[in-house]
Amino acid sequence: MAPALLPYSLRDDLARQGYARLASAQTWALLDVAPGAWADFARCWNDLGPDLYMADGGRYRRRRHAAFRCEGGKFTRKPHQPHFQSRDYNPLNGDVQRWFDPVADATVSNPVMQGVFTLCAEAFADSVASWHVETHQFRIETGKGETGRPTPEGLHRDGVDWVFVMLVERRNVREGETRIGAPDGMALGEFTLALPGDAVLIDDHRILHGVTEIHAVDPERPAWRDALVITFAAQ
Ligand SMILES: [Fe+2]
Repeated sequence: MAPALLPYSLRDDLARQGYARLASAQTWALLDVAPGAWADFARCWNDLGPDLYMADGGRYRRRRHAAFRCEGGKFTRKPHQPHFQSRDYNPLNGDVQRWFDPVADATVSNPVMQGVFTLCAEAFADSVASWHVETHQFRIETGKGETGRPTPEGLHRDGVDWVFVMLVERRNVREGETRIGAPDGMALGEFTLALPGDAVLIDDHRILHGVTEIHAVDPERPAWRDALVITFAAQ
């Protein structure tokens, strides 16, 4: 596909304030994919296994995971491996090798994922030759008897260099507000990734991020928040 050709304002926001938002319409324009591809992409979130490592005992998070090497804008998938975060960055679930089901090949090859890879490589991967990239599909469920917590660890760093977060779907959900903070915890912004394709790019060294609890609009019906998270760490 063609390069994503990031708008100058996005690069400027990222450099100046350490994060940049992409509205759904901008993301869709950058990705330039057929609506059918997006529908196929979003459907991949219907087949995620439970996250069995939740230290708070929660059963509200489903996910898949994959690791890649990115060199010169080219992504090569690595053998399936555990996800590891130091307790320094994740006091709740850190210091554990966490195994999740692999992201399906069809999800990786979907034009949306490929377009997002291109976008991220343009935004993040200028300066260092080789990057360790991790891709996470998340579904946070909420409803009767269980509150969905997209980031149970609160405002945090991922312990990488760069983070990309994109909303895939909100179904019957309210709240789930994205919060952005300085390293000392001072609030810098809050907004809601409301529409499919709403995204935020984050300099993980300068900015903390978190998402507030989600609640069902109608507790009698299924409710969830689906998101794609991609992290870049120089290797
Ligand atoms: Fe995070």
